[in-house]
Amino acid sequence: MIRFLPLLAAVLATTVTTVWAADPAPPAKADPAKGQQIVSTVCVACHTADGNSVIPNNPKLAGQHPEYLLKQMKNFKGEGGKPPERANPIMNAMIAAYTEDQMRDIAAYLSEQKLKPETSKNPETVEYGRKLFRAGDQAKGLPACAACHGPSGSGIPGQYPRIAGQFIEYTELQLKSFRAGERANDPNKMMRMVAIKMTDAEIKAVSDYVAGLR
Ligand code: HEC
Ligand code: HEC
Repeated sequence: MIRFLPLLAAVLATTVTTVWAADPAPPAKADPAKGQQIVSTVCVACHTADGNSVIPNNPKLAGQHPEYLLKQMKNFKGEGGKPPERANPIMNAMIAAYTEDQMRDIAAYLSEQKLKPETSKNPETVEYGRKLFRAGDQAKGLPACAACHGPSGSGIPGQYPRIAGQFIEYTELQLKSFRAGERANDPNKMMRMVAIKMTDAEIKAVSDYVAGLR
């Protein structure tokens, strides 16, 4: 047995090298036309054909960064038989049938659509919301939203989603879900650590402000 060990080790080493040497298949190039096909037949019911949803609980998807859209779809689906990282009964069911390539197509199509943004609705809190967005609240260690989502809330492709122009109700709902830990798919707890420091009044004001941000 002992004298076979070096041989075994050699075989293993070769196998390992082979595995590492094999490049993973590059993702297929996203095809927005195929994405449009899916959106206009399935997602249209809640997000409309161009991703400019009209019901506040269904987020607007038009003009969102494709990397973020893809990540959310993958999080809703869940990988390798594990429960989805982002729990939402509707979206978990809606996305279950799609492959990653199809999600890429959908993301490409939606990101190319022009966002029809919402507006702020509460003139009394808009200044307070603006202050929170731009400067946070140093006294309690609340960081500025602008530090990550950018001064105009348009985010950074591949890192931070666009939040400008989104429905007030949806933004509020997400901030509260992050705060409660019900939404926990944010890398390094980035959003949970922000939201946990926010009161209901702050969440309301900043959500209203962000809806009108351009
Ligand atoms: C029956 C209504 C409904 C349908 C149909 C639907 N969605 Fe959704 N979608 C929702 C709701 C509600 C949410 C918000 C979930 C939450 O609050 O976490 C959402 C959220 C999303 C998000 C996350 C957006 C963000 O800003 O984080 C993406 C991406 C998305 N949907 C894509 C799709 C795609 C692609 C389809 C079609 C395959 C689809 N949806 C079909 C209702 C729907
Ligand atoms: C340290 C960086 C950081 C800061 C500061 C930050 N965010 Fe975020 N935010 C993120 C990341 C990263 C995500 C994406 C999480 C994911 O991948 O699901 C996100 C997601 C969100 C979402 C969900 C978007 C959607 O479409 O579902 C909202 C809403 C949001 N942030 C609002 C805010 C607000 C309001 C503030 C300020 C009070 C803020 N963020 C501060 C990093 C940050």
